[in-house]
Amino acid sequence: MKELIRKIAHGIGFEIHKYNGLKPMSNYVNNNLKGELVGVEIGTHIGLNAEQMLKKMNLKKLYIIDPYTDKDWKDGTCMEIVYGNISKILEEMQKRLEVYFEQGKCLHLKTSSSNAASEIPNELDFVYVDGNHDYEHTLQDLRVYYSKLKQGGVLGGHDFNSPQFTEVTNAVIDFAKEKDLQLYSHIQDFWFIKGRPRQSNDLGYKEREGEFDLI
Ligand SMILES: C[S@@+](CC[C@H](N)C(=O)[O-])C[C@H]1O[C@@H](n2cnc3c(N)ncnc32)[C@H](O)[C@@H]1O
Repeated sequence: MKELIRKIAHGIGFEIHKYNGLKPMSNYVNNNLKGELVGVEIGTHIGLNAEQMLKKMNLKKLYIIDPYTDKDWKDGTCMEIVYGNISKILEEMQKRLEVYFEQGKCLHLKTSSSNAASEIPNELDFVYVDGNHDYEHTLQDLRVYYSKLKQGGVLGGHDFNSPQFTEVTNAVIDFAKEKDLQLYSHIQDFWFIKGRPRQSNDLGYKEREGEFDLI
């Protein structure tokens, strides 16, 4: 029964957070990267994931990038139904993260990920990609922000192996091949470690019960 519920939840893209509110990639970063970290989230929406990262990780600074224009988000109409209009979504994010803006721990760049790149420092510890989910944008985000990571830094994001977002999955797999990188994935999160090459011919992940998982 539990397994059936898990499969249905996965099918509709619902996430079971096993890691004290942190998503799997953030949990990996939290457990493996030392010191005060500087990171980026591409696509912040109402700020739920950013809030968890700011609360639970040792962050010096989190840059959040989101233009808050519905043309940048394929399911914009869907979001409007759920949350009201875009300006309400922006307001909700600002309210949720207010304390972190005041502390100087979080900075919002209200533009697209491609425009923001030149304003973000290099030598980043991690980047979480969850912005425009089409193939071209996802691949571009991976390419551009991989180059901004320090050696050993972590690049990843959301909606890998998700039934609704096959373009994300395809972009992630093509990027893994292009850079010959080891791909890790768990519960729709994926991630790469800068400089860690693929260790076998099977891309470094395996499919288990309809999900990709660490080898
Ligand atoms: C799935 S939501 C992000 C959810 C958030 N990461 C979380 O887990 O709480 C996607 C967001 O990406 C933003 N977005 C769309 N295109 C973008 C782009 N080119 N650059 C940055 N953000 C973008 C949308 O405005 C939307 O708020």
